Formats: sequence, C-alpha cells, structure tokens
Amino acid sequence: MAERQENFGYRLWRYDGAPGELIPLLQSAQDHFGYIPRRAISYISSVTGIPESEVFGVITFYSQFRLQPMGKYVIRACAGTACHVSSAKVIRETIEDELGIEIGGTTEDGLFTLNTVACIGCCSLSPVIMVNEDTYGQLTPALVRKLLRRYRRREEQAPKETTVAGGGAGP
Ligand code: FES
Repeated sequence: MAERQENFGYRLWRYDGAPGELIPLLQSAQDHFGYIPRRAISYISSVTGIPESEVFGVITFYSQFRLQPMGKYVIRACAGTACHVSSAKVIRETIEDELGIEIGGTTEDGLFTLNTVACIGCCSLSPVIMVNEDTYGQLTPALVRKLLRRYRRREEQAPKETTVAGGGAGP
C-alpha cells in the first residue's frame, strides 16, 4: 500500500471498490501526474477490474482527460464569438502550422500545448490568445508566428532546466 500511496493520488490508493468511481479515479490520476500515464491506466484497471481497453475508451471519450503531459507553454486560443469574427480561425491555423500540432496536441519537444477556450474575457482585443498567464491580443498571423518564435528562441538561449508544465512568464 505504501508504494501505491507514493506513486498515485490519494483517491487511487484509497479506492475501496465502490461502483461508479472510474471518473474520479481518472481525475485523481490526472491531478497527480498532470495527465494519465500508461501505468495509471494499468493500475486503475487492476484495482477496479475494468479492462484497460475500457478505461482507455473512457479517457478518450472525455476531452478533459489527457494522455500526454502538457507542454511548458500552454496556448489557449480563443474561439469565442468576438474572436471568431476577428479571424480567430486563421490565428489558430497559423499556430497549428507554426508548431506542427493540432488543437489538443503538444509539440514533440514538450514546449507547447495548444487548446481552445470559449472566451478569455478581453473581447475588445480580439483575436486573443493566452500563453500560460500572458494574454496577447489584436493578433495577426505574422504577429503570432513572431510571438511563438520568441518563446522558442528564449528556450534555446536559456540554460537547460527541467521542463515544468504550466510554468514561465512571457518572453
Ligand atoms: S471572444 Fe475572445 S476574448 Fe472574448
């Protein structure tokens, strides 16, 4: 039990066989790891008796669950109405093209994750994106490419350190 406590979140090692616990168990794993790793799927399957394929099916059904760690920089591209009418789609496509990922994806180097959000709350600046806690508005494709390249350049110039999900200020 001690190993379980050390390797998994509280709810996981306290699981007592109660029915309907799969979603909370998955949430616990994601809270603990930042995503749901393969070993957590195996563990959840072994303690609940639910086949791994079923656990995997539930994870992929709900968009809230991630099978990959988040990037160091999480980009939230606004898809709200004001941004939508201000070419948010073009901005999103530019980000996808620049980073080589789609919505929900993370770059291979673990630097960027791209998500969408309904409204960031500063519609007058549309189209808007957030990179971690920093907000950038009135974007054009050229500006967003420049911005992403600045983040990447800063990383290349920074002394090597462990990538931490969600950290870092804007460049
Ligand atoms: S719709 Fe994009 S900030 Fe509100």
